[in-house]
Amino acid sequence: MQDLISMRSISWQDAGGILRDSAKMEQLLKNPKKCAHILENRVIANMFFEASTRTSLSFQAAAMRLGAKTLVFSSKSSSAAKGESFSDTIRMADGYSDAIVLRHPCEGAAQLASEIARHPVINAGDGANQHPTQTLIDLYTIRKLKGKIAGVKVALFGDLLHARTMHSLLFGLLMFKAEVTAISPKELSMPSALIREAERKFCVKIPCMARPELKNTDILYVCRVQKERFSDPKKAEVAARAFRVDAQLLKSAKKDMAILHPLPKVAEITAEVDLDPRAKYFEQAKNGVPVRMAILSRCILGKGKPIRQKSAPRSFACKNPSCILQAESANQRGVIGADNIVRCRYCEKPA
Ligand code: MLT
Repeated sequence: MQDLISMRSISWQDAGGILRDSAKMEQLLKNPKKCAHILENRVIANMFFEASTRTSLSFQAAAMRLGAKTLVFSSKSSSAAKGESFSDTIRMADGYSDAIVLRHPCEGAAQLASEIARHPVINAGDGANQHPTQTLIDLYTIRKLKGKIAGVKVALFGDLLHARTMHSLLFGLLMFKAEVTAISPKELSMPSALIREAERKFCVKIPCMARPELKNTDILYVCRVQKERFSDPKKAEVAARAFRVDAQLLKSAKKDMAILHPLPKVAEITAEVDLDPRAKYFEQAKNGVPVRMAILSRCILGKGKPIRQKSAPRSFACKNPSCILQAESANQRGVIGADNIVRCRYCEKPA
């Protein structure tokens, strides 16, 4: 595997390989000298065009644990603030490093970067599209907590419309045969095209509901309202009041249900829940280091291969206003997914 761009283009074998490598990395971390040579003398460029705490810190920690050095870029203090194009910035970073970890507010930025760079590109979040490294952490955490992923009943709860963590995780969970339910207020429900795509690809039915029903849930996966993706901040505030996880809600849940969250959490989980033994989100965040160590080493050392998606016969203009193609030009050619739908090769939205 060279690049890690989307849960659509990673094979089950590679995803499984990363989960196995993550467990090995976690063991090695007990004696850090044992892993300090794996990426010795390599340089990794951490390119964050959007805010980040855990993803950026855990990628840095993972690189350091493997013996690599990191270049840290922030769009506010770089030439991007002077108007340098994204493509030029990526060309520079590619010349200075052995791999690029990229977070960007535009959907499709990671795919475009992977076509420009000679070195591996790892998507650390592209707009509301995908966050595949978070998904691999989530799958690793679920397997550690429950001993398996297949058959585990997972309720996705929160802003399913905008959260890239949820969009990636839906594919990751179905790939490993978990049973998924989508729970959100109506105005924040999972995009219907995404639900249809996942249902066709994995031959399942995904129940969607407005109110949580936790009696049989094994994992409650919560996310915040993604206010930075709303054009009207007032609407985000109203949406944020529409759902909450509190002690009252958890009364109906199983004693061994686990609550996960990609963090940051804002008001959607009350402080009392942090003290509930079912709250596992800080443990989940800690798993970020071994999982990202596994990802960096596989991408840089070149183990495994991405799924090559079939190109569509004709080119088309992507209409998604959040797609990177609205800011950068590229040779646009759609791809045909496993569900036979033509979509933009960058932001992955249907044509
Ligand atoms: C993300 O970058 O998507 C975070 O990890 C989750 C969030 O911002 O809500």
